[in-house]
Amino acid sequence: MNTEIVELNEQNIDIEQLMRAARIIVNLGTVVLPTETVYGLGANALSSIAVNKIFLAKGRPADNPLIVHVCSVKMMEDLLDEPIDLRSKKLIDAFWPGPLTLVFKRSDKVPLEVCAHLDTVAIRMPDHPIALKLIELANVPIAAPSANISGKPSPTMAQHVIQDMDGRVDMIISADRSRIGVESTVLDISSPVAIILRPGGVTLEQLQKVLGKDGVMLDNMINSVVDKPRSPGMKYTHYAPNATLQIVRGKRENIISYIKGEIQTSSTPNLIGVLCSDESKSEYQGAHVISIGSVHRLDQGAANLFAVLREFDQIGVDMIFAEAFAEDEMGLALMNRLKKAAGFNIVDV
Ligand code: TXA
Ligand code: MG
Repeated sequence: MNTEIVELNEQNIDIEQLMRAARIIVNLGTVVLPTETVYGLGANALSSIAVNKIFLAKGRPADNPLIVHVCSVKMMEDLLDEPIDLRSKKLIDAFWPGPLTLVFKRSDKVPLEVCAHLDTVAIRMPDHPIALKLIELANVPIAAPSANISGKPSPTMAQHVIQDMDGRVDMIISADRSRIGVESTVLDISSPVAIILRPGGVTLEQLQKVLGKDGVMLDNMINSVVDKPRSPGMKYTHYAPNATLQIVRGKRENIISYIKGEIQTSSTPNLIGVLCSDESKSEYQGAHVISIGSVHRLDQGAANLFAVLREFDQIGVDMIFAEAFAEDEMGLALMNRLKKAAGFNIVDV
């Protein structure tokens, strides 16, 4: 399949080019679009034919449902049978457009493939001018999972998308680096206490400000590998780099001495990667060291994580040690992705 790559500037969008992307969506093709979280692999969410192309391009298991992207509340309401309640309104007012996905009871208009035969549909309004304009021009909701090959780190830069999707989609819109860099928070609002199914760009603390401290909780499956999770995406290996990845958790000085010891006793230290912070990056001589940024800016760390995992693939290390980071604010989403990337291989020191 011939993939057209179109470069767009989000400050000054070439509408004619974007119209061509919209026409591909209307004609049931596939377009990779930038969003504020990660790049998404988009297709017309109202068409089974179009949506099946997403699963094919990604190699995605059919039982893992997709997020539907809308550009207006009206467009969302068309996908639901019932009017939205007060709590959903509050969440939408506070966080849309933005990295919060809400799981609603769906109407029959939503093809079964989109929601993997569940009776719910996950919807969000992305905070990105190109994504919003594309949905508006196509005038249909766009289903879009992250635009990586299934199992690989999500793409936060156009070059990652091209690596994974060139030849598999009709068009790739190449734009800037994704600002948030981890996917949206997925929130189940079917019960009185909202449940975070996937931590992401909107933090637990931010949600608590709107819903109250007891109005939202983390799903207890978030940090485990499970057979029958509430969010189907939880059960698959994710974000995995080619190398074996181990997370080292504990007091800062213990983490450092453990990783240093591993480097010093290795016969091939040049095949070791260390994923760490600015504060400790000078400690690990002899290995390939990549910092995700300061421990005081884990929002930036989260934004850098997927690119750093891909960088280790490029270098070709066979073992990566990753420092564990604090699991609050954006550190929660960061550590969630890191644990999944490691397949929950964690050593406590
Ligand atoms: O930030 C994002 O959300 C990105 C960008 C492109 O918008 N998209 C994304 O999509 O991360 P994807 O397909 O990689 O992840 C969708 C997640 C999965 O964990 C899936 O299981 C969950 O949302 N999900 C989708 N529909 C659901 C539903 N009806 N009920 C529960 N979880 C659902
Ligand atoms: Mg994904």
